[in-house]
Amino acid sequence: MGKTKKGWMLLFASLMTIFLLAGCNSESSGSSSDGDSKGKGDKIVVGFSQIGAESGWRTAETDSIKDTLGNDPQFELKFSDAQQKQENQIKALRSFIAQKVDLIALAPVVESGWETVLKEAKNADIPVILLDRGINVKDETLYTSFIGSDFITEGENAAKELINLMGKDSKVNIVELQGTVGASAANDRMAGFAKEIKGNANYKIIKSQTGDFTRTKGKEVMEAFLKSDGDNIDAVYAHNDDMALGAIQAIEEYGLKPGEDIKVVSVDGIKDIFKAVIAGKANIIIECNPLLGPQLAQAAKDLKAGKEIERWIKTDEEVFVGKEAAEKALSSRQY
Ligand code: AHR
Repeated sequence: MGKTKKGWMLLFASLMTIFLLAGCNSESSGSSSDGDSKGKGDKIVVGFSQIGAESGWRTAETDSIKDTLGNDPQFELKFSDAQQKQENQIKALRSFIAQKVDLIALAPVVESGWETVLKEAKNADIPVILLDRGINVKDETLYTSFIGSDFITEGENAAKELINLMGKDSKVNIVELQGTVGASAANDRMAGFAKEIKGNANYKIIKSQTGDFTRTKGKEVMEAFLKSDGDNIDAVYAHNDDMALGAIQAIEEYGLKPGEDIKVVSVDGIKDIFKAVIAGKANIIIECNPLLGPQLAQAAKDLKAGKEIERWIKTDEEVFVGKEAAEKALSSRQY
């Protein structure tokens, strides 16, 4: 090959390389790939580490955040599903930090073990907003705000409504289906409920075990409770609807009537539990609102505008007892 021809080819190859690199760069700055996210025009880049998809409630929360941020041109959302593993959440957070997102939203699977990675976020000047579940950290400045419910109050309300329903003089044996071990939603719902029934010696928790917030595990654990305590159970308190729905199935298969022979109290308020109450198979719903997208978007915009945001952004919730209340509410339920 002649020298001139070779020279032209080298020049062409170099130009192609420059052109391709320029193309790659502009693509990463406009999409959710792994590039540096800071300075992407005026967009607020949010990295959201979600726990998984263990329940109808969780799916509703994911949809709310994807819909709200996804439909607002001011945002770019980077979403990561941890499949119930804290280690996956920590990896996701580190990747968001490396990408220099503007804000991290974290729904923490458990309460403990967050210090190190949150310090890394703080050192990188990236604010962290906790969604729906809380964490235990000594240094409270490791997160900016918490958006979610008061799980202790939910537990207290579950006990109060059960006592109202069954009467304070009745002797009531309760079995409890706990959420994921170590999760604030499980710890606090357990504590609130226990605190409230402590004052009434007629109400006893005879069994309490985790059903991991899932329908399958809720059913399995309820089957075991029925096997050991059978006709001794008057009520089941489930930390979420999916476990309650699993328990209802187990009670029916055991030959008893859920909602009648065994009262069912549950937390969340997904459509399926409203239908179960209307069918007479469950009794009390303690609502916990998963539609946190709008509050997260507002908090992110406020932070960008340099405004201070509340330390705890609480959600509005209700309690529904009995068929009439469930019937009235079902048509307007969003999840
Ligand atoms: O943290 C909220 C809880 O997590 C919901 O009650 C439950 O359904 C979910 O999986």
